[in-house]
Amino acid sequence: PAAQIVCVGSTMVDLISYLERMPAQGETVFGRGFAQGFGGKGANQAVMAALLGSRVVMVNTVATDSFGRDTIENFRSFGIDVEHMAQAPDSYSGVANVMVDPSGDNRIILGAGANELMTLEQVDGAFAANPAPALVLSQLEVPQPIIERGFRHGKDAGAITVLNPGPAAPVAPGLLALTDWLIPNETEFALLFEAEFGRAPEDMTTDGAAFAARLGVRLVITLGEDGANLVHEDGSVQHFPAPVVDAVDTTGAGDAFCGGFAHGLAAGLDPIASIELAVVVSADSVTRRGTQASYARDEALQRLLAEGVAR
Ligand code: RIB
Ligand code: NA
Repeated sequence: PAAQIVCVGSTMVDLISYLERMPAQGETVFGRGFAQGFGGKGANQAVMAALLGSRVVMVNTVATDSFGRDTIENFRSFGIDVEHMAQAPDSYSGVANVMVDPSGDNRIILGAGANELMTLEQVDGAFAANPAPALVLSQLEVPQPIIERGFRHGKDAGAITVLNPGPAAPVAPGLLALTDWLIPNETEFALLFEAEFGRAPEDMTTDGAAFAARLGVRLVITLGEDGANLVHEDGSVQHFPAPVVDAVDTTGAGDAFCGGFAHGLAAGLDPIASIELAVVVSADSVTRRGTQASYARDEALQRLLAEGVAR
């Protein structure tokens, strides 16, 4: 059977407007297009891992509204285990207002809503029912004590723990101590580095190595269109260029990377092969609009894997 990933993470419904330019203070602009889709960093990463063949258990809380029901149904459509999805009354399901400019870059407003209402008991229940996952995956869109509980169960079970520390925020030392792999982008890395070293990073290579050594984590820094850097255990840094693509919408590209990387490690690939897989599925996602909707599937995914990773 395929290796199992437990994702203790967020769900959002993404309301994406495509704009000629971002509005200024007090200004209203007409959008040039709109898409509604399923998002949230946790959900996106879970879906990418499931598309690649991992058995994924999603642990999250939505509200009792239509977005929440649709979110659970969406997971079912990917074969993701929703036994540990909860629905909280008197809240709203997570929502992300996304603005995308013509270069494909975005700005996002998050309403975390029911994501904030996850409980420790819910996490305990998920691991009681799934006591031997290969990997536990999380991001920073749900409360850190919730993530920490999931990672503690993961470490107790001998699983690999992977944290994508986004959106950028300080990470509690107790959570970092339970993290095997940290996958920040450059902004997230800069924030974490500064909290630790009291200065901005100057060199992603030497500073990345110093950070990984100090924190006792394995580190992959994602670099957008430039690919990713892996800090090896001996402190050397390996660069992985990304395939060159025409960017339409970068929303969810970092999540495609993390979901692809997590799938690789859970399936027993080494970190290098896992990153090669991650850069391919991530770059591909940028060529289509939307978040999960932009992830390759079926024959397109098979073709991508055959062409992109076999090289
Ligand atoms: O990383 C992209 C995601 O961030 C979007 O799907 C949006 O929901 C926000 O959480
Ligand atoms: Na996309």
